[in-house]
Amino acid sequence: MDRTFSIIKPDATKRNITGAINKIIEENDLVIIAQKRIKLSTDKAEGFYSIHKDKPFFRDLIDYMTSGPVVVQVLEGSNAVEKYRKIMGSTNPANAEEGTIRKLHALNIQENSVHGSDSSENAEIEIKYFFDEIEIVC
Ligand code: CMP
Repeated sequence: MDRTFSIIKPDATKRNITGAINKIIEENDLVIIAQKRIKLSTDKAEGFYSIHKDKPFFRDLIDYMTSGPVVVQVLEGSNAVEKYRKIMGSTNPANAEEGTIRKLHALNIQENSVHGSDSSENAEIEIKYFFDEIEIVC
């Protein structure tokens, strides 16, 4: 079993589709073993996305990610990282495959409803950034 880290982003929480997204996650045999709804501070969002700090979209990304609640999650399943990336679809919903979360729900390349880790190494780092081990229940 592997773990990945997920964020249901402000565009989705604002439209009250957390449950619709969780339904897709669970239908694809990923188990939500930790979950909390939080409001990101600017510092926390900047730290999380520090890899993008030199990108032209960085400021807009931080403004967006702090504009409303997010739901941070730990997902468990076989090949969790790859599986969740497949279920999410491409970053830009215009390029996302039919049936993916982003094709169904994302608004545009920034307001793309969900984040998922891109590797197991980053999943571990991202999970630790938001969760204590005691909050993760298998
Ligand atoms: P995410 O997978 O969380 O990783 C970085 C985020 O930056 C991305 O999803 C989008 O929300 C946002 N973003 C905004 N513009 C772009 C862009 N041009 N390319 C990639 N990501 C973008």
